[in-house]
Amino acid sequence: MESVVPPVVDGSAQAIMDLEREYLLQNYARYPLALVRGKGCYVYDTAGRRYLDFLSGIGVNALGHAHPRIVKIIREQAGLMIHCSNLYYNQYQGPLAKRLAEISGLQRTFFANSGAEAMEGALKMARGHGHAIHPEKFEIISLENSFHGRTLGALSITGQPKYRANFEPLLPGVKFVPPNDAAALEAAFSPRTAGMVLEMIQGEGGVCPLTHDFVAKARQLADRYNALLIADEIQCGVGRPGTFFAYQRAHPVILPDVLAAAKPLGGGIPFGAIVANEKAAAAIGPGMHGTTFGGGPLACRLALETLALIEELLPAIERVGGYFHVQLNELARKHSFIKEVRGFGLMIGVELAIPGKQLVLDAMAEGLLINCTHDTVLRFLPPYVATERDVDQALKVLAKLFAKVK
Ligand SMILES: Cc1ncc(COP(=O)(O)O)c(C=O)c1O
Repeated sequence: MESVVPPVVDGSAQAIMDLEREYLLQNYARYPLALVRGKGCYVYDTAGRRYLDFLSGIGVNALGHAHPRIVKIIREQAGLMIHCSNLYYNQYQGPLAKRLAEISGLQRTFFANSGAEAMEGALKMARGHGHAIHPEKFEIISLENSFHGRTLGALSITGQPKYRANFEPLLPGVKFVPPNDAAALEAAFSPRTAGMVLEMIQGEGGVCPLTHDFVAKARQLADRYNALLIADEIQCGVGRPGTFFAYQRAHPVILPDVLAAAKPLGGGIPFGAIVANEKAAAAIGPGMHGTTFGGGPLACRLALETLALIEELLPAIERVGGYFHVQLNELARKHSFIKEVRGFGLMIGVELAIPGKQLVLDAMAEGLLINCTHDTVLRFLPPYVATERDVDQALKVLAKLFAKVK
């Protein structure tokens, strides 16, 4: 049956933008584009114009848009139960937590609703762990250039002054270390360290992978000082690097004590999780943490299906991502303003010697959605269902735009 609720605004992009300008907080610098629907790797605007979506809602729409298996589950589960609160059990939390344990190598899960909320839980775990040892063991080590979310706790460990500036003072006891600087990391650790947080591939920081040696050092120091090692896999994990989690790319795998996941995990609906080993999980006892929405039956059932689909897609992520990487390097050889192509799987950044903002707008005008992070890094987070043909389509647009750069 068709919805009986009419569209609340005139469907023109201008009317949508005008109404928002009047009634929404003016915190987002949106692109001038109003989207209506999507199918696979493509989205459509109010005028019916088609765009190749190589940003996937900043990494959320990993299965593309309107994936039939996701749509089916939303339809079915919405008719059964969407939410029941954490006062009661539902059928899907246990199976999803079991699946997360199997694919991560960690043991126990807490379900949240976003990346920032997952990071809050991870921070509380580190604080609880430290506190149980000594009240002075509360320091957190984080990395410069990192991004962990917009809530006050997550901001406190975000190593980019522009996000923090208007809200200081933030949490005390946070130390920032330059990424891949093992000596600085060693100097920052002490018996007061409760936890260390890292993104294996810094996302908002410009798609910058950490080196294996640096991560190995972090693991060694966390063990030496009995601190929790927390991997923020919110952007770089859940299939995006071609493995379920970015820490699994290393051989041998260096396990964190806690991982935080979100973005694609809920198949497009808000969802997040922390998965912890027994030592870290022991830091959160009865009554110490909770959430109303986290782990609802719809979200958990969708996450189970999403993980099943991602498992099927892992080889394609590696293959298509590898192809994209190679082709971008070809473009880099032709254009001296392209400094570097970085990333793994379908998380790729192209560092330019010029600002990237205009290129993003020009790409949009050519029907390709990407974005720019850190002013000069073009960021590509294509859906995992993207094929070599989709990549070729994106490359065609990029080649045209790069050829015009003076
Ligand atoms: C690495 C990382 N951590 C945390 C977050 C925050 O997630 P959310 O926006 O869902 O709160 C993000 C969001 O971009 C992220 O990239």
